[in-house]
Amino acid sequence: MKTVITQSHEEASVLIADMVSNIIQANKNACLGLATGESMELIYAALVKLFNGGKVSFSSVTTVNLDEYVGLPLSHPQSYREYMNRNFFDHTDIDRANTYVPMGMEPEDQAHRDFQTFLEAHPRDFQLLGVGTNGHIGFNEPGRFFESNSHIVTLNDQTRRDNSRFFSSLDEVPKYAVTMGMGDIMKASRIVMLVHGANKVKAVRELFTHRQVVPEVPCTILKLHRDATVVLTEELVELAELKRQGSFAKSVGSLQ
Ligand code: GLP
Repeated sequence: MKTVITQSHEEASVLIADMVSNIIQANKNACLGLATGESMELIYAALVKLFNGGKVSFSSVTTVNLDEYVGLPLSHPQSYREYMNRNFFDHTDIDRANTYVPMGMEPEDQAHRDFQTFLEAHPRDFQLLGVGTNGHIGFNEPGRFFESNSHIVTLNDQTRRDNSRFFSSLDEVPKYAVTMGMGDIMKASRIVMLVHGANKVKAVRELFTHRQVVPEVPCTILKLHRDATVVLTEELVELAELKRQGSFAKSVGSLQ
């Protein structure tokens, strides 16, 4: 697992957007795994800027999102389909037919099977990740084991409280979500996880201090991927006191 430390969230976002753009330059038919959340918004803004400047086209790209709430209508402002439209798709030349955001209208429905079929037919060149305050990736919550394939999850209380800032009340936050499994995430050729926000201190400290992969801190699975990079700011490194613990002795690199 490589680590890149930047001066700011803006710098991190531009670095990641440039990397995505380079992947598309190398392969205009690239398949990109995308993520949602507040941390990702500046990456999409940077990608839209590259598009507006004529530096990249998404016209032949395929995208697939990590997860979606169950029970929210697609048109709900907090559905991840709506998030993607608002932050990215609406402002680029991407063909909507080539964008996949999983759907799950009811906990018991079969949408995650369609999701799995899609994932297996579309190997990803790249997977973007954020991280939850409890270390979750996608919506793979801490637990006793990892689920490999796409599945329906019961969101834990911490995650619902964290995401309640986007809803008018905690009651409105869905209780279930559909998510890629950990095996699905790990199948992407390259993975970049952006860790942003002071509320991620505990997750980031655990990621860098655990030597093992522990299902109680799901993002630790990235230690097993052959091309995974964690991008975080100097500020977060200080807050998590990672330098003092020597966690970065050999891990600083650049996003090429
Ligand atoms: C949600 C998403 C995750 C995301 C996390 C953090 O729970 N399912 O994919 O990483 O939010 O989001 P934020 O960037 O808003 O902190």
